[in-house]
Amino acid sequence: MGSRRTLEIKRREALIGIAGAAAVPLLPSDSVLAANDGALANADPRKSFDPWVEVSRTRLESNANSILSRSKGAKLMPVIKANGYGLGAATVARMYDSMPGVQGYMVVRPHEAFELAELGLRKPILLMAPASQNDSIALARAGVHLAMTLKDTPETVSEIARAVGRPISVHLEVDTGINRQGIPWRIAGERAKELAASGAVRITGTASYFVTPPGDRPQTEAWQPELEQIERFEGVLAAMRTAGIDPGVRHMVSSRSLFQYPQAYYDAVRLGILPTGSYPTAEARASGRVDIEQSFEVKCRVAQVSWVPPGDTVGFQKRHDQPNGTWVATVLSGSPGGLPSDRQVWVNGHLRPLLMTGPRLYTLVDLGPEPIAKIGDEVIMTGRADPSITAEALGNPWYLYVLADRLPSVAVA
Ligand SMILES: Cc1ncc(COP(=O)(O)O)c(C=O)c1O
Repeated sequence: MGSRRTLEIKRREALIGIAGAAAVPLLPSDSVLAANDGALANADPRKSFDPWVEVSRTRLESNANSILSRSKGAKLMPVIKANGYGLGAATVARMYDSMPGVQGYMVVRPHEAFELAELGLRKPILLMAPASQNDSIALARAGVHLAMTLKDTPETVSEIARAVGRPISVHLEVDTGINRQGIPWRIAGERAKELAASGAVRITGTASYFVTPPGDRPQTEAWQPELEQIERFEGVLAAMRTAGIDPGVRHMVSSRSLFQYPQAYYDAVRLGILPTGSYPTAEARASGRVDIEQSFEVKCRVAQVSWVPPGDTVGFQKRHDQPNGTWVATVLSGSPGGLPSDRQVWVNGHLRPLLMTGPRLYTLVDLGPEPIAKIGDEVIMTGRADPSITAEALGNPWYLYVLADRLPSVAVA
């Protein structure tokens, strides 16, 4: 312990010393130290050259409040699959956990549910996807609420409940038309009765999912399968009521359908992208119904600044064609999917274009005729600094899943 502490103090001194001179963090970087020293496992990723995500508690909360003010009394169930849409599932779950309007959290992979369960959150975690019997037992032991899909019968849930030693908390996932996953609506009422009669489950919720895709599918006025889905869901709920079964928290809408089907808000709105601060569609943004702003920024630090003389090469493919040469900043914004080459980033108050991008570790930023950044300066890859670099403007799926996924995440005010 003592030697770790000494190591940390030495590192701090080194950082302070050099920061005074040129704001250059010393190697080994914090991330290297963190990987090698358990005591530093929570080292601040902001001191590293590697990219990190900063999530603003204030903005996430104001997004949640804005959604709640229009949700007709329904609570918010944040969907924090895929590492909380890249923001860091643990970071955002801890923030949401103190918000009274938040009902609980939805994830889709057992490992995501286990990760959240370890945080000791006050609100329930729902795994809304099928899990194996073994995983279901472990998840139920950890207090995770399980989705009941077609494979789940009185026999399978009884086996889980026996192993856990108590009835398990479940949400019935009713398939009202997507024909993808869940208990088909035609048999869902019956299945609810059988599951309830088994004594092995506590029904804490009943859910369905719209066929509405997240993207911009134009809605033809005549064909709205979602309306039929709502009717089917209502039928299942009525059958449950008749049988004396409490459906628990009823939830159906995701970010896009929130703007289209207020009649389906029920007890909770199950939203992924919207609370992060991106509208799911252009119509949703234009509707002016919910006021949100990007709650996070993805940043990294300049690792090198170089002068590229006129006509010299820069990056792998590019011959630099500026007649007067340019300053170039190297950032380690590594992205397995690559950054679109036509985008810009924010450097010390300037929007600057990229010179080299792609599925590689390095990205080169064209600083222009003046060296407007030095080693260690922050570069904002996405954030609110300029409307053209918000996650929404950049294209959510690409940015949030590919680049930001599993980046270290820190909470800021
Ligand atoms: C069942 C379910 N509900 C809600 C959502 C959230 O979707 P969105 O990000 O469009 O709000 C998802 C996301 O995948 C989902 O799978």
